[in-house]
Amino acid sequence: MNYAAQTLLERIKRDGQINGEVIKVDQFLNHMVDPALIDLLATDIAAQFAEKSIDKVLTAESSGIMLAQAVAGMLGISFIYAKKKRPLTMGEHYAAASYSFTKEESTTLYVSKEVLHPRERVLFIDDFLAKGSTLKAAEEIIDQAEAMLVGSAVIINKSPRRDIYAILTLDDLQ
Ligand code: G4P
Repeated sequence: MNYAAQTLLERIKRDGQINGEVIKVDQFLNHMVDPALIDLLATDIAAQFAEKSIDKVLTAESSGIMLAQAVAGMLGISFIYAKKKRPLTMGEHYAAASYSFTKEESTTLYVSKEVLHPRERVLFIDDFLAKGSTLKAAEEIIDQAEAMLVGSAVIINKSPRRDIYAILTLDDLQ
């Protein structure tokens, strides 16, 4: 386990809670946020993708935003956060629905055609990967844009998928 993973694990044990498959991280990641921790996690993720010629980082509102900003800053590129409500000012757009099993609700993600373009190489970032529905919606949006998903990175991967870069998996938390 690398330094970022060890630090996060210790923080979860100190300030968080693990209730089966639900991990409480609202003291440092997704309600109150520790920017130094975010930077440490982002450094690890940015290093993984530094040689992949990423053009844009893509995340979804809202908890992925802090990490996406930090990673994009380190890669020297912009990040997009897909919106869950379409603003009146958003003209032509891509949209994809995602069902959250954690929250038992369906949401639609919107990305303006002005910010994501054909052939752009995209890195998807999020805090948790649970059932993968947010990632699936992001993939649909990337397809609609004729852009390319080059990789995905999350802080905690709760799914059995191993084709996604994660700082921690559920196994690490047992
Ligand atoms: P999926 O996208 O991978 O299918 O996951 P799912 O819909 O089941 O859950 C995604 C939402 O639930 C995300 O928030 C994510 O942050 C949150 N989530 C999932 N597992 C956990 C967990 O173990 N602990 C905590 N604290 N949150 C979890 P969201 O709906 O995208 O909203 P937002 O909070 O980012 O605004």
